[in-house]
Amino acid sequence: MLSIRQIHPVFVGEVLGADLTGPLSPADVAAIEAGMDRYAVLVFRDQDITDDQQMAFTLNFGAIESAPGGNITKPHEYRLKKGMIDVSNLDKDGKPLERNDRRRMFNLGNRLWHSDSSFRAKPAKYSILSARTVASQGGNTEFADMRAAYDMLDDATRATIEELVCEHSLIYSRGSMGFTELTEDEKAMMKPVRQRLVRTHPVTGRKSLYLSSHAGTIIGWPIPEARDFLRDLTEHATQRELVYIHRWRLHDLVMWDNRQTMHRVRRFDESQPRDMRRTTVAGEAMTAEQAVAA
Ligand SMILES: [Fe+2]
Repeated sequence: MLSIRQIHPVFVGEVLGADLTGPLSPADVAAIEAGMDRYAVLVFRDQDITDDQQMAFTLNFGAIESAPGGNITKPHEYRLKKGMIDVSNLDKDGKPLERNDRRRMFNLGNRLWHSDSSFRAKPAKYSILSARTVASQGGNTEFADMRAAYDMLDDATRATIEELVCEHSLIYSRGSMGFTELTEDEKAMMKPVRQRLVRTHPVTGRKSLYLSSHAGTIIGWPIPEARDFLRDLTEHATQRELVYIHRWRLHDLVMWDNRQTMHRVRRFDESQPRDMRRTTVAGEAMTAEQAVAA
């Protein structure tokens, strides 16, 4: 039977006694789900797993999200099989992408605070990230607890945001980094979707701030005012006390609940391979009604 110990004052658990290379007992799966509900981020050390093992582990928690639309890499350029999300700095031949490679520049958006797939109408539940080759310097992933961030808001701010709906798109997150050269097909793929600014966890009932760098507008607000307010909220939500810094070791596996956290990766030496492979558990519900196309 596995056990979990909290490793940050606010959230994040380390799971002990789990071997993810083989099938898990129903009791272990239930313990991990309960751990996710409580800690929002779980760290597993020393999990030397294959892609198939990672996908099998992922399926314990729902369907695998594999719809296109998360990046500008074309199918013939994929390094990994369907179901695996490549968050390495590598091309199909395993070589680090050139500095000016369009795919690399697009993927730099992962260095902004975000929640995975918040640009999808039905956003992701969990993300599961496996470290197959770690950076020699840098490349930490940071996590912030959006439940604690919500709890720390004053009453007036809570009242202001309660019913607000934002529009999220990769166009907004990349645009904020100066990456604006997108083809018409890419723009069509990145059409904004609506997300509530306050979410309620389906199991625990805890409220959280649903922020992401993909959020670019608040419905009914002037855009500059919306962006300013979202920046303020993000600054509040990512204050030092609410952030866990994960320093990757080879064969670490970290899973997080995108409904309750944000994350970002930090700079690293990109002349060396950093091979990180993600699987994503698809979300089960939309957070807001979507606009009907005119
Ligand atoms: Fe991410």
